[in-house]
Amino acid sequence: MTSTPSISFAKPGTPKKGSVIVFCAEDGALSDAARANDPGKTMDRAFPVADFTGKFGSTLEVLAPEGTGIDRLVAVGVGKVSALDDYAWLKLGGVIASQLRKSAEVAVILDLAGASVDGAAAAGVAAGVLLRSYGFDKYKTKKDNGDKADDKKAAKVTIHCADPAAAKKAFADAEAIVGGVVLARDLVNEPANVLGPVEFAAQAKELEKLGVKVEILTEKEMKKLGMGALLGVAQGSVRPPRLAVMQWNGGKAKDKPIAFVGKGVVFDSGGVSIKPAAGMEDMKGDMGGAAAVTGLVHVLAARKAKANVVGIIGLVENMVDGNAQRPGDIVTSMSGQTIEVLNTDAEGRLVLADALWYCNQRFEPKFMIDLATLTGAVMVALGQTHAGLFSNNDELAERLTASGTATQEKLWRMPLGSDYDKLIDSKNADMKNIGGRYGGSITAAQFLQRFVKDTPWAHLDIAGTAMGSPTNEINQSWGSGYGVRLLDRLVRDHYEG
Ligand code: BES
Ligand code: MN
Ligand code: ZN
Repeated sequence: MTSTPSISFAKPGTPKKGSVIVFCAEDGALSDAARANDPGKTMDRAFPVADFTGKFGSTLEVLAPEGTGIDRLVAVGVGKVSALDDYAWLKLGGVIASQLRKSAEVAVILDLAGASVDGAAAAGVAAGVLLRSYGFDKYKTKKDNGDKADDKKAAKVTIHCADPAAAKKAFADAEAIVGGVVLARDLVNEPANVLGPVEFAAQAKELEKLGVKVEILTEKEMKKLGMGALLGVAQGSVRPPRLAVMQWNGGKAKDKPIAFVGKGVVFDSGGVSIKPAAGMEDMKGDMGGAAAVTGLVHVLAARKAKANVVGIIGLVENMVDGNAQRPGDIVTSMSGQTIEVLNTDAEGRLVLADALWYCNQRFEPKFMIDLATLTGAVMVALGQTHAGLFSNNDELAERLTASGTATQEKLWRMPLGSDYDKLIDSKNADMKNIGGRYGGSITAAQFLQRFVKDTPWAHLDIAGTAMGSPTNEINQSWGSGYGVRLLDRLVRDHYEG
C-alpha cells in the first residue's frame, strides 16, 4: 500500500495551495465554509453548465479557481442531507479518494449547508478515504503508468470540520476497523505460494502485539485431539496444517466468550476431485473466512472492545498427491462422528467440522459464527452482493441481518431443516460430505450444523462476497475484506459492556 494517504483533522479554513474538496447538498446548496474557498464564485458559474446538482456521489472539478492559490476545487454531491447515514459517510470518503489525482495536499471542507457534521461522520469520511485507496501492489515493480513503484508520494488529506478533536477521537476506532479490513484484504490477495498454513498462522500470531492471546496447534496436537476431518484434507499437501486460536479478553472475566470460526483453505485445488483449470487461481482466496476472522480480532483488539472473543481458524491446503485423500475414504471427526468423503472438493466443511467442535467443547461460547467461502452454489442463489446466512437461532440471525444492512455487507437468510439434513445421511458412515444436485449451500450448512449441538450458531457462506465481488466506492480490490465491518458492528451493537 505505497499510496495510502495520511489523514489529519483541522478547523474549517481556506487553504492557499493544493486541492480543496467541498460538499454540496441537493439542489447545489453550499455551506459558508465551502463558499469561503470560492471567492470568485466559480462554482456558481460551473454548476449549471455542467448540470451539477449535488446528486449523491457526483463530482465536479474546477481547475485553478479564480481568486485563490489552489490548484483545484472539487465539489462532491451528498444528495439529501437527511439521508446521510454511517455508510454514506464511508462512501463519500471513497468518492474523495477517487478525486485525489496527483495532489500532494488535499483539504476536505466537511461542512454542509444548514446541517452540522459530527466527529463520527468526519471519522467515517476518513475511513472511506483509506478503504478506497487500498490497492494490492506489493508485487508490482512498476506502476501501471510506467512510474517506479515507490514514486508516487502519498497525499496528505486534511479533513476540516467543526470539532477536529472529536473527529480525531472517533477516528481511533475507525482506524482500527480500517486496519482489520486491510489485513483481511491482504491475506485474501496474497498468493498461496507465499501464504501457506504456517505463514498464515504466523500472521495470526502477530496479533499478540495488540494484546491478543494466540495459540497455534500443530499437526501432532490436532492428531491427538482426533481432528480426522481437518487432517484428511491436509494430508495431500506437503505443507502441514495449523489451527490458530486467538483470544481477546476485553470483557468481564466471568462472561462467556463469543466465537468466530473461519475456513482457511490457503489453496483449494479440489484434491483428487480436481477442479477445472479455468479460474482455479481464484482458489488462493479460499481462506476468506479465516481472513475475516483474523481481521475482526485485529479490530476488536485495536479498539479495545469490551467483549470476550475467541477466533479460531482452520488452516490447510487442499492438494492432489499420492498421499491425498480419495473419494470414498471414511474419516472420523473430533466429535466421533464418521464422514464418508464422496467429493474431496467439499473440503471446507471437513475443516470447519473439527474447528467448530473444538471451539464449542473448549470454550462453551455464547454463540459461534463461522465464515467460509464454502460453496459455488451460494453465488448461483444470491449472486455476489449478499452472503448466505444460515442459523439455528432467530435472534442471532436478525442481529446479523441488521448489522449487514448498516454496514452494507449484506446477508440473506436461507433455510435449514430435517428434509435437507437427511440428504447427507450416508450408507457407509454417519454422514457424507455432499448432498445431491440441488440446494448445495443448504446441504453444506446442514453438514456444519451436525457439529454445533445446541449452541446458538450462524454460518455465513461468503464464497461470492469475499473475493471477486463487484468493486464499489470503498473497495477496488479483489479481496474485499467482507465480514470484518459486519461483525465489528454486530459486536459493537450487542455484545459489549
Ligand atoms: N472453495 C469452494 C467453493 C467456492 C467456489 C468458493 C467458487 C469460491 C468460489 C469449495 O471448497 C468447493 O469446492 N465447493 C464445491 C462443493 C461441491 C463439491 C459439493 C462447489 O461449490 O462446487
Ligand atoms: Mn473445494
Ligand atoms: Zn474450498
